[in-house]
Amino acid sequence: MVNLEIDERNSVPGVPAAVQWLGWLSGALLATALSVWTFTVQAADPTAGKKIYVQHCQNCHGERGEPQWPGVPDFSHGEGLLQADSVLLASIKSGKAMMPSYRGVLNDSEILDVIAYLRTLR
Ligand code: HEC
Repeated sequence: MVNLEIDERNSVPGVPAAVQWLGWLSGALLATALSVWTFTVQAADPTAGKKIYVQHCQNCHGERGEPQWPGVPDFSHGEGLLQADSVLLASIKSGKAMMPSYRGVLNDSEILDVIAYLRTLR
């Protein structure tokens, strides 16, 4: 005989323990699926990213990612973008060489939107 050892105090009277456990499990799975879905939607909004890019990045990085100054990577050829989003996020937050730091100017989710936009430029 299988003993599921579900605490009597937490069980709904009249509903078998296994059914209650399945209900809990599907709730947990649904919550996980929803949070993954929400993250994906939030992490990739190139349309919002484009607005930020035009305002903060275009002067150096060009309308379509073509460098405006020597030493700026050419995003239209994918230069500088062969790195994980988390690495690019850190570089943009701290700044690099001539590039200013965006910590306190843009939040992480805004920077991730811009990164999603950068990946559309090539
Ligand atoms: C003042 C000019 C300037 C502005 C404004 C600017 N950048 Fe840059 N950016 C640079 C330069 C210069 C580099 C090359 C740094 C290096 O590797 O020496 C660079 C590099 C990068 C890289 C590649 C980093 C790497 O690790 O190779 C990314 C990604 C980037 N910029 C994104 C952005 C984003 C997004 C914005 C706007 C939020 C922005 N930049 C604004 C000048 C600028």
